[in-house]
Amino acid sequence: MPAVVQTVLWALAPTWLMDRCARRPGEPFTLTFAPSGMKLVLVSDPEAVKTVFTAPPEIAPSAANNSPIAPALGPSSVIVLTGPEHMRQRKLLLPPFHGERMREYAEVIVEATRKDMAQWPLGRPMKLQERTRAITLEVILRAVFGVEAERMGPLKQAISGLMRPTNSLAMLRFALRRPSGERPTGAIGDALDRLDAVIYQEIGRRRAQGDLAERTDILSLLLGARDEDGVEMTDGELRDELVTLLLAGHETTATSVAWAIERLVRHPHTLQRLLSELDAGDGDEYMTAVVNETLRVRPVVPIVVRLLQQELQVGEHVLPPGTRVVPSIYLTNRNPRVYDNPHEFRPERFLGAAPETFSWIPFGGGIRRCIGASFAQLEMKLMLQTMLGELEPTLPPQSRRWRRGEWSRRRAVTLVPVAGARVSWNRRGPGRSDG
Ligand code: HEM
Repeated sequence: MPAVVQTVLWALAPTWLMDRCARRPGEPFTLTFAPSGMKLVLVSDPEAVKTVFTAPPEIAPSAANNSPIAPALGPSSVIVLTGPEHMRQRKLLLPPFHGERMREYAEVIVEATRKDMAQWPLGRPMKLQERTRAITLEVILRAVFGVEAERMGPLKQAISGLMRPTNSLAMLRFALRRPSGERPTGAIGDALDRLDAVIYQEIGRRRAQGDLAERTDILSLLLGARDEDGVEMTDGELRDELVTLLLAGHETTATSVAWAIERLVRHPHTLQRLLSELDAGDGDEYMTAVVNETLRVRPVVPIVVRLLQQELQVGEHVLPPGTRVVPSIYLTNRNPRVYDNPHEFRPERFLGAAPETFSWIPFGGGIRRCIGASFAQLEMKLMLQTMLGELEPTLPPQSRRWRRGEWSRRRAVTLVPVAGARVSWNRRGPGRSDG
């Protein structure tokens, strides 16, 4: 295919293009983009994925500093940094995402979901993705800022402004036009200015307060964190990590929950089995399988990119320095050598069998694996449990066009359901365990 055609298909129909290339010429394959001439080498064989994810960071660092979202995240963002600076920020950020802490977020997740559900129109179609996005934004703000999040209306507006679809397009255009690292101007620049003003103000207020030890929100934990040399984070570093968590931590999870319901309404037996498990109140094995299967078959981030600094042997191929080698999350999660009928939504495949590290990679891998993976999985489960405990989703008759499933559409760096996960909700009948 001419590079121009590959570029247009990559922008408009990335999953179609990946499926097509996986069939012929087959894995691994190279995509070439015009006019830059940039090439991506896509891999999806678990052994190749393992080689890339476990290669030392000085050989295969992340190429996310070239991502269209990098300028908004800032130069100290853990997503943007590489090498020892990346490890420093990552170690500072990890504690709030560990085991015990997770439980504290559970109440916030259930409460935010219930509050939003109270306004849903029953029996009429709605775009679920808009609501899940509002819920996860509320949750991440509460997790990051604690109760102060309640008076952060302007912050919410600034973030929503940043994430508006037109702005995502503007962001992509910005990334194509200029070298990365420059701060966006125009509507995105204005939204970023508003976001920064609120964040710096809050950092200043907290530093002055001196009650950090009693607080458990992420900002307080980060303000108290010290690296191996006992050095604390600067205001600029804090700003970049907070913006990173706010942006990386809500759209992704919201889309995954929307995809879960999009799949469930088209698989009534699966939905009924899930509702039965919820009603029985006896564990969450099937729910876990549903979440794992959704993340497998509809991964919201389709690829991750590593930029080789040295030669690397991947399978039979020796890739030269300068190669952008790309574990394709989308293709790896559907590798027919690993999964039977890989396009089918069948949570049963994960009953009694946990996903494998290098053939189920919705959260990427190696030392760059998503910091919020456990948080996101907990949030998905609790949001689904709360919704399905009270309401039952159906496919609205108007959605016949999407009877077999909504296509994926790009939104900034994620893949979202093209119609916004259209669904109707009805109240569930009596006989449920929670009354
Ligand atoms: C279903 C939801 C989510 C998905 C599918 C997802 C996916 C990803 C992926 C694919 C990466 C890149 C990994 C790599 O390069 O190997 C990543 C990185 C990251 N994610 Fe997530 N993510 C989700 C939710 C979250 C949440 C809730 C947070 C935080 C609250 C978060 C914070 C981050 C951070 C900080 C990184 C950068 C890690 C690093 O570079 O060291 N993500 N995520």
